[in-house]
Amino acid sequence: MPDTVCPPHYRTLLGQVPAENYAGAPTLRRELDAIFRPSWLCVGFTSDLKAHNDFITFQLGPHSIVVQNFKGALKAFRNVCSHRFSRIQTEACGNRSLTCPYHGWRYDGEGRPMGIPHNETAFGLTDDDKTALALEAYALEVVGHFVFVRMKSSGPTLRAFLGDVYDVLEHVAATCPERIENTVHEVEANWKLGVENGVEAYHHPLVHADTFSYVLQPGVVMNTYGPHCTHEGILTEKSAHWWTTVTNMARLTVSDRYRDYVSFLIFPNIVTTFTAGAFFTFQILTPLSDTRMRIASSGWLAEGAGAARQAVIGALTAFSGKVRDEDKTICEIAQAGVSEHGLNRPPLLGEVDNRVRHFQRAYADCMGVGDV
Ligand code: FES
Ligand SMILES: [Fe+2]
Repeated sequence: MPDTVCPPHYRTLLGQVPAENYAGAPTLRRELDAIFRPSWLCVGFTSDLKAHNDFITFQLGPHSIVVQNFKGALKAFRNVCSHRFSRIQTEACGNRSLTCPYHGWRYDGEGRPMGIPHNETAFGLTDDDKTALALEAYALEVVGHFVFVRMKSSGPTLRAFLGDVYDVLEHVAATCPERIENTVHEVEANWKLGVENGVEAYHHPLVHADTFSYVLQPGVVMNTYGPHCTHEGILTEKSAHWWTTVTNMARLTVSDRYRDYVSFLIFPNIVTTFTAGAFFTFQILTPLSDTRMRIASSGWLAEGAGAARQAVIGALTAFSGKVRDEDKTICEIAQAGVSEHGLNRPPLLGEVDNRVRHFQRAYADCMGVGDV
């Protein structure tokens, strides 16, 4: 790297991912292989998969994963028909058998096409042939509300992959059983830019001047768990007062472990927040292309039968929606700059960007980039 681009005294501040990695189809293809296929990815929630034939789909770049309930057993497959490669389930979620909409091949819980129209006269496929033509199956595990899938056939268990975060997700799911919000929106920005935006608070005073900047006191503490990390902070007096009032009015049963604010980055693409031991947000950021991401945001609230519950839900969802819009706008502005050609140095990361640095290290370990 020429010193004219990066004066030597800046070097200790450099991150590990050059700007050029934030756009470009070849980089995304390498990320899918090196990062997304080996990682456990949250693809959805158990509440959408309760009944026989309930299904969800999950889009990741060009790939689509289907998770389907077969008489109570959840199975994950590549969402591509073995006949002539059509998508099988085409909606984000629903209830229908795992049957291809093109010529009607119907798949069983092992992914075998056991129902093939005109098989005897047109194909003559035996049961062994059908087993050989089974859909590509993916590993699937559930923790709390969260359904995780690993595309790569071998690898760690979900518990080993998440480390201490596994227990946290179990705890939060038990504390916050009700999903009060479930939205999806798309952002014209690279998925990494969304993750990095989600894990630092340095932008709050400018980007969230009337929203999130009121929630946290300055100064947060980071802890790392392998590629994952947390960021714990203290609520402002104003926010703590609001939560005390709300907890009493809605009679919320809050966490005995987290009373202020903690945010988790679950590598590679999940950013969560847990506020006042009562409100959990869970954002899954997935690349649709090199410069477009899909963010699935859900919010979960602690139990409580107080009369104010609906008003609290209304306030929380309105707040989250405003913060999301603010982040979408700034991410698209940032992407416009990042996408310019010839930006080959990594960003400058100060102490305030420590979780961005942690994410970039984990990314660089997987991708083999950015050693500076
Ligand atoms: S492509 Fe699926 S049944 Fe023909
Ligand atoms: Fe933000």
